[in-house]
Parts: sequence; structure tokens; C-alpha cells
Amino acid sequence: ARLPPEVNRVIYVRNLPFSISSEEMYELFGKYGAIRQIRIGNTKETRGTAYIVYEDIYDAKQAADHLSGFNVQNRYLIVLYYNPSRQNKKGNLKDQEEKLRAMQEKHGVDGEQHA
Ligand code: ADE
Repeated sequence: ARLPPEVNRVIYVRNLPFSISSEEMYELFGKYGAIRQIRIGNTKETRGTAYIVYEDIYDAKQAADHLSGFNVQNRYLIVLYYNPSRQNKKGNLKDQEEKLRAMQEKHGVDGEQHA
């Protein structure tokens, strides 16, 4: 059986309760098949989101089909397939600070006021 092109072994979940534990995540998403990895967002930007990697693409589809709109601790889950072009290419805060520091150095900004 063929699958639509957007279907992926990795699903991207939004609107998770901030308090959800890794164990609860494995319990919920593990119902649809063997999980290779779960990465739960832990920064200001990524809290409430997670990537779940299934061993089998058909299990990822079952999870997406069943858990999209599913209610967890009074929140409705948003389940998408992983799409690399939609990942935040700006990177994390540390990367941004390092980029800013490099730009300031290149252009001679020293943090002092100039007249
Ligand atoms: N960020 C926002 N939407 C995304 C998606 N579908 N996959 C990966 N990262 C995302």
C-alpha cells in the first residue's frame, strides 16, 4: 500500500502540556508502535512540542491519524509530519548569541556609545 508523500516516520507534535513527562509520552505515542526516539522541547521556543520517531512509517501514520486533535490534560494535540523545511533555521538562543558576537567582532562593535 502506498502512502502520501508527506507521511514520515517522524511526527512533530504541538500544544502538549508543558508538564507532560517522558514516560507519559512513551505511553501515549507507544500505543501505535515501536518508538525509536522522543525529543521533547525544553526551551522557551520549543516547550509544548516534541518530535517522535517511529521504527515503522505505518505506525507513525496510525499515531498521526489517531492523535491529531486528541485531548491530553485539557489540551488538543496538533500532530504534523516532520518537515525539515519548516524547522527553525535560526537555531537556538546560544547559536544566535554566538552569531551576534561574531557579527559585532567583524564590524568592530564594542558595546560603547559612539558620538
Ligand atoms: N516546525 C513547525 N512545523 C514543523 C514540522 N512540520 N516539522 C518540523 N518542524 C516544524
